[in-house]
Amino acid sequence: MGDRASGTSGAATAAGQTRPVIDIRGLSLTFQTDDKPVVALDGIDLKIEAGDFVSLIGPSGCGKTTLLRVIADLERPTGGTALIDGMSPEGRGSSASTAMCSRPRRCSPGARSSAT
Ligand SMILES: Nc1ncnc2c1ncn2[C@@H]1O[C@H](COP(=O)(O)OP(=O)(O)OP(=O)(O)O)[C@@H](O)[C@H]1O
Ligand SMILES: [Mg+2]
Repeated sequence: MGDRASGTSGAATAAGQTRPVIDIRGLSLTFQTDDKPVVALDGIDLKIEAGDFVSLIGPSGCGKTTLLRVIADLERPTGGTALIDGMSPEGRGSSASTAMCSRPRRCSPGARSSAT
C-alpha cells in the first residue's frame, strides 16, 4: 500500500519524524436506535500515510460508510480516536479538505471524495 519510495509519505512533525495523515485507534461507534443499539464500528485501527491509495472493502453493513463519515466529521465516534493531519475531525473545522458525496463527479475539483 502506498508509494513510500516517492518520499511523500507522512506529515513532518516538529521532531522531524513523519506521522500518518489519518491515524485511527480503537475507533468504535454504536448507533442508538429505538429498537436496539447497533454496533457499526468496533475497535478499528487504521493508519494512512500521504500518497497511500486505500480502498475500503467489505460486505454491506460492515461499516465502510460510517468510518468515512467519522473521518469527515459527519458522525461522532463513541470510542477511540481519529486524527487527520494530527487533529480530531471536529478540531479541523472549516479548514477540512475532505468531502463526501454520493455522486463523485459532482464534487468540488480538488476535494477528496468517496461514494457512499
Ligand atoms: N444512522 C444510523 N442509525 C442506525 N444504524 C445505522 C446508521 N447508519 C448505519 N447504521 C448501521 O451501521 C452498520 C454499518 O453501516 P454502514 O452504512 O457504515 O455500512 P456499509 O459498509 O457502508 O454498507 P454498504 O456496503 O451497504 O454501503 C449497519 O448495521 C447499518 O445498518
Ligand atoms: Mg456504505
